[in-house]
Amino acid sequence: MTRLLIVDDDEDICTQMKWALGRDYELLTVGDGADALAAFTAVRPTVTLLDLGLPPRPHEPEEGLAVLSAILALDLLAKVIVVSGQNDKQNAIRAVGAGAYDFLCKPIDMDELRLVLQRCVYVAELEQEYRALQHTVRADSFEDMLGASPPMQAVFDFIRKVAPTSAPVLILGESGTGKEMVAQALHLRSQHAGGPFVAINCNSIPENLLESELFGHEKGAFTDAHTQRKGHIETAAGGTLFLDEIGELPVPVQVKLLRFLQEKCFQRVGGRQEIQSDARIVAATNRNLQESAASGKFREDLYFRLAVVVLKVPPLRERGDDILMLAKAFLHNYGGEHAKPGLTFAPDVLRALTAYRWPGNVRELQNRVRRAVIMADGKRVTAQDLEMTDTLSILPPQTLKEARETVEREMVKEALRRHMGKVTAAALELGVSRPTLYELMEKLGIVRESS
Ligand SMILES: Nc1ncnc2c1ncn2[C@@H]1O[C@H](COP(=O)(O)OP(=O)(O)OP(=O)(O)O)[C@@H](O)[C@H]1O
Ligand SMILES: [Mg+2]
Repeated sequence: MTRLLIVDDDEDICTQMKWALGRDYELLTVGDGADALAAFTAVRPTVTLLDLGLPPRPHEPEEGLAVLSAILALDLLAKVIVVSGQNDKQNAIRAVGAGAYDFLCKPIDMDELRLVLQRCVYVAELEQEYRALQHTVRADSFEDMLGASPPMQAVFDFIRKVAPTSAPVLILGESGTGKEMVAQALHLRSQHAGGPFVAINCNSIPENLLESELFGHEKGAFTDAHTQRKGHIETAAGGTLFLDEIGELPVPVQVKLLRFLQEKCFQRVGGRQEIQSDARIVAATNRNLQESAASGKFREDLYFRLAVVVLKVPPLRERGDDILMLAKAFLHNYGGEHAKPGLTFAPDVLRALTAYRWPGNVRELQNRVRRAVIMADGKRVTAQDLEMTDTLSILPPQTLKEARETVEREMVKEALRRHMGKVTAAALELGVSRPTLYELMEKLGIVRESS
């Protein structure tokens, strides 16, 4: 049965409610604010019916409003219906402004109450289902890519959406942000997932070879062409061709690629035969391709063909706590590889990691952690191991209180993450009571869903 908490110091009203609602709800009645909070924490009612005028000042709304905000601090989505005196509608409206679900004025019309309750329970259940669903859908990783931050979750959503289409995708992002991983994820989530994923870097192949690398060549097409050879567009048939650093593509090859994108066919170098390939093209660049197109360095028509769908991979510095999540994952992996398990970061390192600008993004983080694992003496990885003492030195000094909070925040988040947001289990692991953990979460501004 749905749990209902009734907070009212008027015993007659409590009795009246029991009569009216006892059959449909599991009722719990309390008479003051302190009991209300204890009961709320203990039973987590679906709906709380809260009288605004509570002792010690039953004619003022302050106590009721304080209880309301304390309940919402414990659970932002808690459903509280406030009950106010007849002449106190103003305060009831204030309460709704402060987060109450609805209000009723005394004397309470029981039919109206039943109706409001039904609707409120319905909304609460929907929200609960939604929350549960969010938990299963919003994982911290996607096709080997780690990321819980909103910008990375947006990238994952975007990939889910565009992967199944065969449209070309242009991936933009600073170096080391994970563009190739995104391309792979697009492949793995596409209808071509069973086919090959072929990656070529347009910058690392000499200009005169690039055309034949991409499109292949016939025997005798040029001096070294002793045999016929298939190009990457052909070998990627049924799969995905990833063209990294597309901005470096020489203009003659751009023309040929454009034709392939338009007509799905091409000729090998030195050949006449029209060859078909259904390879999906995914391109990436860390340059401003639009600018290159505008200034004539890159063909505008090709740009528009490639950029039907554009996916921007955010720089690491914009990913909030993902930085720490990635750092820890790399520490764990490399620690294992170098037979140094159980390494942790010193607390001041965590601050440096988040404050640093990461011009080389995830790749730089990976390299620094790899090096630090090798350098680390003992169990703690220091700023020195990471070559980040400069970053640390420009950070404002931390008070003891801030340092304590940094550590607490880390530990609470970790525990919640490990137990998938389950507060009871996390509290047990941390050796504190459930209410204490809730208090800590409130103090540190930790929201369960996003951890
Ligand atoms: N979200 C992520 N989670 C885990 N590892 C990641 C993530 N993003 C990138 N990496 C790792 O970081 C490194 C760089 O990624 P990737 O090569 O995909 O980036 P890039 O943008 O293509 O880099 P570049 O501009 O240098 O070509 C790789 O080793 C990759 O495994
Ligand atoms: Mg790359």
